[in-house]
Amino acid sequence: MSAADPSRPAVSFPDALSSRERWLEPFGWYREMRADSPVRYDTDRELWDVFRYDDVKHVLDTDAVFSADPSTAEFGDEVADGEGEPPPVFDTMLFADPPEHDRLRGVVSDFFTPRAISNQADRIRELTEGYVDDLDAEFDLVSELAYPMPVDVIAELLGVPTDDRAQFKRWSDTVIERPDATTEAAMEAFQQRQQETQREMSEYFSQLIDARRAEPRDDLITAIIEAEVDGQRLTERELIGFCTLLLVAGNITTTNLITNAMRCFTSQPELLDEFRADETKLSTAIEEALRYRSPVQAVFRVTAESTTLGGREIPAGEGVVAWLGSANRDERAFDRADEFVVDRQPNQHLSFGYGTHYCLGAPLARLEAKLALRSLLDRFETVEPVDTDLQPIRSSFIYGVEEYPLRGHQPGE
Ligand code: HEM
Repeated sequence: MSAADPSRPAVSFPDALSSRERWLEPFGWYREMRADSPVRYDTDRELWDVFRYDDVKHVLDTDAVFSADPSTAEFGDEVADGEGEPPPVFDTMLFADPPEHDRLRGVVSDFFTPRAISNQADRIRELTEGYVDDLDAEFDLVSELAYPMPVDVIAELLGVPTDDRAQFKRWSDTVIERPDATTEAAMEAFQQRQQETQREMSEYFSQLIDARRAEPRDDLITAIIEAEVDGQRLTERELIGFCTLLLVAGNITTTNLITNAMRCFTSQPELLDEFRADETKLSTAIEEALRYRSPVQAVFRVTAESTTLGGREIPAGEGVVAWLGSANRDERAFDRADEFVVDRQPNQHLSFGYGTHYCLGAPLARLEAKLALRSLLDRFETVEPVDTDLQPIRSSFIYGVEEYPLRGHQPGE
């Protein structure tokens, strides 16, 4: 998932990207920023932005200076302000620095290794084929496959009822929502939605945790309840935080990988035949889609001490947005950076982050995307977009479209 929680300053969005067109294609603006202001302070948002590949990688790779813990910021107090404690998701690995981070990540890391995930392949294939079989010739890729499949997968892993899918979607959409700072009332309504959602998620998972305590099962929730780290069980807040993090991280990001990849592939229709003939080409192409239209465009850090980056002096306690989506298009790091090069290798994109917080779910996301796209290719010989105005997701760090209507043709049609 992205690193950002919407109540954090990370989400405050640069004005330059606020129009529909710009957020659908932010890459021209990134290019300008990389050239003219690779590390800049935005006085409106009171945040630093970092745009070049080497600088973004440095931010992610230097925990001691660029902390993932928002409470270290001057504005940490504001985040926690108002309605008492910050949401439990703040007590997760995503917002912790080592050694606390490593302690929390260690609780679940064995469940997400490539080997553990490959054991899920048959079940993921089955779920995927169920959705793909139900598709009509015209369908919305997002709501009919790219959203429900990853939610089912993470819900089954966790051990939460997949029937609550619509609820999870509402929660995830709110959690990644971009704040509306146009008026005070809009901002207040935004904050209320956030708090309400956090409350609902906490209640939901708290009940589920109680149920698993009473009757353990063979699922991830039971495993994290029973896990001991340094001889201690996780606190209630940590448990709830874990569940919300995995649920949100596990769906909205993979949804957009699948959709963004199809957006790349439909622009070169001949690719579909190539992928059918050679599945390794599909895996390489998915990596390029991750680079070219990165589902997570930005992650957030706070400077734990003053530092210099790109010739700029950044004081301690400042918020820093590292633009993965820009780093991945940096012409200093990639040849033909602004082209979708389907067989690009090597491809050192930063779409899953880098270093300590490197995405725990990367093997799962890759497998889900591959199986989803593969089964679409089995079902349809060709797939083309149905002409509509695409709407970007209203988030400041998740990148994708609300709907992606497609028309599929079967062999002989
Ligand atoms: C295409 C899909 C995905 C993308 C693009 C993505 C992206 C990312 C990124 C960029 C980070 C680093 C955040 C940071 O440095 O602050 C991250 C961390 C994380 N992701 Fe993913 N993610 C995806 C899928 C998943 C899935 C399926 C899961 C499910 C388990 C997941 C779970 C996590 C967790 C738990 C972290 C925090 C790791 C840590 O702090 O050590 N992600 N993800």
